[in-house]
This record gives sequence, C-alpha cells and structure tokens, in this order.
Amino acid sequence: MRRKLIAGNWKMNGLLASGRGLARDLAAQLGDQPPACEFLVCPPFHLLVPVAEEIAGSPVLLGAQDCHSAEKGAHTGDVSAAMLADLGCSHVILGHSERRADHGESNSLVRAKAEAAFGAALVPVICIGETEDQRQAGEALAVVGAQIAGSLPQAEGEFVVAYEPVWAIGSGRTPTRDDVGDVHGHIRTLLCDRLGDARGRAIRILYGGSVKAANAGELLGIDQVDGALVGGASLEASEFRAIGTACA
Ligand code: PGA
Repeated sequence: MRRKLIAGNWKMNGLLASGRGLARDLAAQLGDQPPACEFLVCPPFHLLVPVAEEIAGSPVLLGAQDCHSAEKGAHTGDVSAAMLADLGCSHVILGHSERRADHGESNSLVRAKAEAAFGAALVPVICIGETEDQRQAGEALAVVGAQIAGSLPQAEGEFVVAYEPVWAIGSGRTPTRDDVGDVHGHIRTLLCDRLGDARGRAIRILYGGSVKAANAGELLGIDQVDGALVGGASLEASEFRAIGTACA
C-alpha cells in the first residue's frame, strides 16, 4: 500500500514572521492526530531553519525546492543536498516546471540533482508535465515519457514523481479525471518497466496543478494518484489540512 503524500510547495513566498506563523499553524493543525497521509512542507531556503523549529515534534516533514548536483565547491548562490539534509530536510523538489523554464534545467541536470539527493539520503520529488501546446498536439504521454526517461536517477533509492501539467499550475484549471488517470497509469507502466514490478509499484506518483480543498477528493480518488503537490493552497494551514483530510 502506498500511503498518500500531501506536499506543500511554498515557492518564493514568505518572510521570517509569516513563514514561522504558517509553520506554527500547520504544526498545530496537523500535529495532534495521526493523519490519513503524510504531510511535507517545502519552504524557500531562508525559512528552512525556522520552519524546522516550528514543526519539530509534529509529523510534518521538511523539504526544499531545489539543490545543486555537486556535493560542494565553487557554486556561488547554490545549496547542496548535504546542506539541506543537515538542516533536517528529508525531501527535495527537483525539476519543477518553473525551474525548467526560468533556469533552463534539462532532464539530465534534474537526473544529476536527483542522484546528488540520494548521496545525501534525501528523497527527490521529481516533477514532470506537458505544456498546453504539447497537450493540444496530443503529445502529453510522449513528453512525460521522455521526461521520465531523462530525469529519473539511475542509482537505487527512494524517489517520488510529481505529474504537474504546466498549464494547470496556478491557473485554476485541472485536467479531466480521465486525462489524469491516463497519464498516471502511463507513468506507473514506465516505472514498472524501468524498475521492475515491485519497485515500480512502490513509487508514489503525485498530481500537482491547482489542487485545493474543493477538488482534492476527486483528484486523490483517481487510480494511481498517490498524493498531491500543492502550491497556492499550501500557503493556508486550514486549506492544506483539508486537502489531507480528503485522503481519508
Ligand atoms: P499550484 O502549484 O497548486 O499553485 O497550481 C502547484 C505547483 O507548482 O507545484
């Protein structure tokens, strides 16, 4: 059985006081009952330590939004996987479409980062997804397949896949149930082909893109959807909690 994972991607939001406040609210709302799922929060770098302090003792897990592919060295402004692990992170989001677009991240760079994450015992959450043009051209499955082939780590280790159609991120639009089911089913087949049935079936595949409390029940009920990567709706503790409640 794959336990569902609800991951919050805060993106570039929050200053010290507001970030601490949100983490405190999350720890209070998610802390006192065994949730039907795992909760992960991924604040921006400057909030990792204060958020770690606020969620200490709660079941909420801590992740980052990116790391460098190298272990250490002359990479001004970058952060290594070991640095994240040192701060208490268990996960790191990699290859988000905003990084692929804004920073030109390629599949091979995402793969190298995922292998660096393994080196620091972090679980990479590897993001893939088609653009609107690609979907309209009927290329969604092919694009996702190429991203799986190119971005997944070669080494052994636990990872999570997040399917996020680029056009659904922050837009309030989501694919149909059938479209989500088709892509997730395709990803599952590719994972089993690549890793063998037992390992392929153990990998969690999250859906991301305009997930909120109001649509979480429907999206999380689709076959092969093992959780959600949540942007905007993760910035409010009660909304994030309600998405987790939809797992039950
Ligand atoms: P959204 O973002 O929930 O605001 O659409 C999701 C994501 O980019 O991970």
